[in-house]
Amino acid sequence: MTGAPPDVHRVAAQAIDAVRGATDLPSLEQLRARYLGRGDGELSAHLRGLGAIGEREARAQKAKVVQELIGRVVEEIDARREQIEREQSADREAAEAMDLTVPPPRLRRGNLSPVTLAAREMQRIFAQLGYTVVSGPEVEYDRYNFTLVNQPPGHPARDSQDTFYVDDARLLRTHTSPVQIRSMILHGAPQRVIVPGKAFRRDYDASHMPMFHQVEGLCIDEGIAVSDLKGTLEYFAYSYFGADSRLQWRPHHFPFTEPSLELELACVACGGEGCPLCKHSGWLELLGCGMVHPTVLRNGGIDAERYTGFAFGMGIERAAMLAYGVQDMRLLYRNDARFLRPVVVGA
Ligand code: PHE
Repeated sequence: MTGAPPDVHRVAAQAIDAVRGATDLPSLEQLRARYLGRGDGELSAHLRGLGAIGEREARAQKAKVVQELIGRVVEEIDARREQIEREQSADREAAEAMDLTVPPPRLRRGNLSPVTLAAREMQRIFAQLGYTVVSGPEVEYDRYNFTLVNQPPGHPARDSQDTFYVDDARLLRTHTSPVQIRSMILHGAPQRVIVPGKAFRRDYDASHMPMFHQVEGLCIDEGIAVSDLKGTLEYFAYSYFGADSRLQWRPHHFPFTEPSLELELACVACGGEGCPLCKHSGWLELLGCGMVHPTVLRNGGIDAERYTGFAFGMGIERAAMLAYGVQDMRLLYRNDARFLRPVVVGA
């Protein structure tokens, strides 16, 4: 039957097949337009053709059939639509569902700076020997920082190239030694104190920072001798760097101690063979110390006839670098967790 309009039942059956096969809402809407579109839908068009049927009874009959088929297709579309929507929301729920059995991401705990850790460890060791912690100001009088520790005006160590001056009388302390005087004035004799704190010098390279930390130590009593100094600091060094460390004493000079000594540690990088870290000497300077100069004792109000004492000063960053094998001091202050974490974890 060429040219004859496709049978309305066949068109409806086709539409229902297509609707059942639709997998998403846009294609379902396309089918609705294609079959039921106003006027030109493949199915709805059959309503228009009814006018051609002359006989009233037959026309009504046909209209009823077409309406019924349209109704069926509409039902199919609505049913499929509901189904697709249900499936989609189930998919969404599945995708968004929380799996409460998945372990949470590991929270990274912060850690103390290597400098803080080193300072605490030093305090712990000296506490075992009966030392208590005292402190003094970081902005210090020139008088305490220099004059009273035997570096009178004109002394080369006062060179303003090294010192940050605040005004004529005040500066950022260049070492923790002024606290020796303050502690003597405050606590008299006998006393055993350590002073962990900041110090400042105009210096900046791989082994110097303009701000750094020192631990000053001071022990005053009757009959204190060089043997006490050596015993105390060797005990400290073996405790801090390990019982198998190798140490060496060297004579030195400080204006505020007499005699003065330096304690050195066999190079942690080469074990004493000689390498760039120890400048091929095999040894690393650990601390400066000596018997407190009688003038300094007197400046602190101590009876220098009755009492003697020893003092020492040690760079905390330096000690931390040696203990943790850090080659560049600046790394300690760059706040780079990739560096700071492993240094501490590996300690
Ligand atoms: N104040 C000295 C320094 O900064 C260290 C030191 C302290 C030396 C006490 C001897 C006694 O280098």
